[in-house]
This record gives sequence, structure tokens and C-alpha cells, in this order.
Amino acid sequence: MGKDVIIACDFPSKEKTLAFLDKFEGKKPFVKIGMELFYAEGPSIVREIKARGHKIFLDLKLHDIPNTVKSAMKVLSSLDVDMTNLHASGAMPMMQGALEGLTRADGTRPILIAVTQLTSTDQETMERDLLIREPIAEVVMHYASNAKTAGLDGVVCSPLEAGKVHERCGKDFVTVTPGVRFADGDVGYQKRVMTPAEANRIGSDYIVVGRPITAAEDPVAAYERCCREFIG
Ligand code: C5P
Repeated sequence: MGKDVIIACDFPSKEKTLAFLDKFEGKKPFVKIGMELFYAEGPSIVREIKARGHKIFLDLKLHDIPNTVKSAMKVLSSLDVDMTNLHASGAMPMMQGALEGLTRADGTRPILIAVTQLTSTDQETMERDLLIREPIAEVVMHYASNAKTAGLDGVVCSPLEAGKVHERCGKDFVTVTPGVRFADGDVGYQKRVMTPAEANRIGSDYIVVGRPITAAEDPVAAYERCCREFIG
């Protein structure tokens, strides 16, 4: 599995996104399209960025009955994205349905990863709102393990959890980690952060980086710095 830096294109419109990508000229970074941009622009934004030669992580975090997720994944797969995701809390039949839907007639499919517990959910919220009383670290590892058993390729997790996920699920089980900041940068709303170099040391396969690149004075230089620190 190749290590890479994925830029979170958290922009509200196609115009802003393409103006940002134009700055990269010949370079084609791996980009993440999330709910905001996808719901604003629809599948055409995926086709357009793909046609420009970028790899795409479509971050829509599906969670519904297995049959609905299977059909939805079939549509996402036909958009030719490289990576997509769902909530592991949708349980095993949903994850298996998703894999079936994603798999194309020729046997290929995008990388499928699972969200374990959202980082906005802490122990207290989980116990109070979800009635889950196990320690959150164990819940995360259990969900990662379920994702692996269901045949998924990996999980989205904090860089702090990436090492443990690899210990539990194997080194080929992909870890995609947001919450990355430069040592001299603003932390913003992210609480538990790591530098690209630390994320590399701990074993993240892909880092998802938004504002340290998108809000930088020179986004191309910030992206290149990120790649240097993460990949070497
Ligand atoms: O701007 P920043 O680097 O904080 O962006 C991180 C990206 O990763 C955002 O698109 C955010 O939605 C996403 N993300 C996250 N934490 C998670 C899952 C996804 O920050 N647990």
C-alpha cells in the first residue's frame, strides 16, 4: 500500500475547488471530496476532478440498511473513485453489502475503509447517547476488527491509533488519519494532532490534511512540505 498525502478539499463550490487545484499546475495530488462539496455539486464534481487526473477519496460515510448501501456503493464505484467509506457501526451485513456493491464486473473496486467512532464522540457521549459502556479505545479496535473480518481494506482513525490498529488487524490493513498539523502550525479545532513525520513513524498509510494546506499562503509549498515530512 503506497503512502500518500490526501488533501481535504473542504470547499463549498466547484469554482473554489478548481481554482485551488489549478495552483498545482502539473502536479496531481490525491484529493478528498466530502459531503459539503459533493452535496453542493453532485457527481459531476467527482468526474471533473477525476478527468483532471487526480485520485479521489469520496468521504460520504454511508450508513443505512445493507441493500441501500450496496446500491449506493455501486453508483460510487461507477464514478471511478479510488477510495470511499462507511460507518462500521452499520454492522457486518452492511459492510459486506457495501463491498459487493463496490466490486465492478471486472473484479476491481475502490479501497473501502470504515469510520470507527467519530472523533467528535468521546467516552461520555458514547455512554450517555449510545448506551455503549465499553472503553472507547476498545470500541474503536472492535469496530476495526469487524471491518477487517467483513473484508474491508482499513479504517479512518486518529494517527495516535494507527499503530494499535496495525497491531490488531495487520500491517496491510490501511490506516487513513486526519488530525495532522505542522509542528509550527495552528491546531484549529483538531484536539489530538500529530505532525506528518510523527504520523509516518507511527505507521499511518495515508494522512488527510485540510487547512494546513488549503489555508496556507502557498498551498503548493505546504503540500510539498507535507509530502517531504510524511513520505521522505
Ligand atoms: O482542515 P483539517 O486538516 O482539520 O481537515 C481534516 C479533514 O479530515 C476534514 O475534512 C475533516 O472532516 C476530516 N476528518 C477529521 N476527523 C475525523 C474524520 C474526518 O478531521 N475523525
